[in-house]
Amino acid sequence: MKFMNLGSRELASHYVAVELFKTIQFNGDPLLGLATGGTMEEMYEQLSSLINHHHTDISRLETFNLDEYFNIDANDPNSYRSYMKQQFFDKVGLTEAQYHLPDNDSVDVEADNMHYEAMIRQKGPFDIQLLGIGINGHIGFNEPGTPFDSQTRIVELTEETIEANARFFERKEDVPVQAVSMGIETIKYSNRIIMLALGKKKAPIMAKLYHMTESDIQVPASSLLDHPHVEVIMDAEAAHLI
Ligand code: GLP
Repeated sequence: MKFMNLGSRELASHYVAVELFKTIQFNGDPLLGLATGGTMEEMYEQLSSLINHHHTDISRLETFNLDEYFNIDANDPNSYRSYMKQQFFDKVGLTEAQYHLPDNDSVDVEADNMHYEAMIRQKGPFDIQLLGIGINGHIGFNEPGTPFDSQTRIVELTEETIEANARFFERKEDVPVQAVSMGIETIKYSNRIIMLALGKKKAPIMAKLYHMTESDIQVPASSLLDHPHVEVIMDAEAAHLI
C-alpha cells in the first residue's frame, strides 16, 4: 500500500482524475469500479473536463459502482444513481448500458446481487477500483466486522455511517439504514485500487491505516494490505496525523 500526500484537495483530486483518464483513454475496453461521496466531487469534475476537453472516445467504457442505498427511489437526489448521473455520467454522456449500480429496490434483491457479482466476475478484473473511506474504515458500505471474502449483498449501516452521511439528507431519519454493497472480495478483484481521502475528518483513520502491518476485520480498509497495487492519495489535512 503506497500512501501519497499531495497537499491540496485540488491536486489530490487531479492525480486520481488523471489516472482514471489515462485508463479510459488507453485501455482497449476500460472497466472501472466507481465510488461516491463528497470526496469524489472535485475528482469527477476534473475527470469530466478532461474527457470532454480531449473529446475522448468513451464508447467502450463500462463502470460498476460500489454501492447504493437500499429502498431509496432511483430518482431520489440522494440515491447514488442520481449522484453519479449528476457528477459524471450525464456530463460525459455515458449511456445506461455502460454503467451499473447495485439494484436498490428490487423484489428479489438476492438474485440481483448475485447477478451483479456475476457480471463483475465475467467482465473483470477492474482496471481500477476507485475507493473513498469512511471514518470507521469502511470501504463501499463494508462496515467493521465484514468478512474479507464477502461479495455483493445487502448490508446494515452502522450508526456512525448514518450519522456521517446525514449531512446529505434533510433529516437524519431520512438516511436509509440499509444498502447494497460490493463485498471486500469484489473490491479486491481489481488490477489496481486507488483510494482518495480528503479533509481532517479522515486524518485519524489514515494514521491508523498507515501504521497497520496486519489486516484487522474491524478496519475494513486494512483488507487491502495484501493487494499488490493500492495507492492511497491524500490531501495535507487527511495526512496530518501520519
Ligand atoms: C459512504 C460511501 C463510501 C464513501 C464514504 C465516504 O458511506 N458508501 O463509499 O467512501 O461514504 O464518504 P465521503 O467522501 O462523503 O466522506
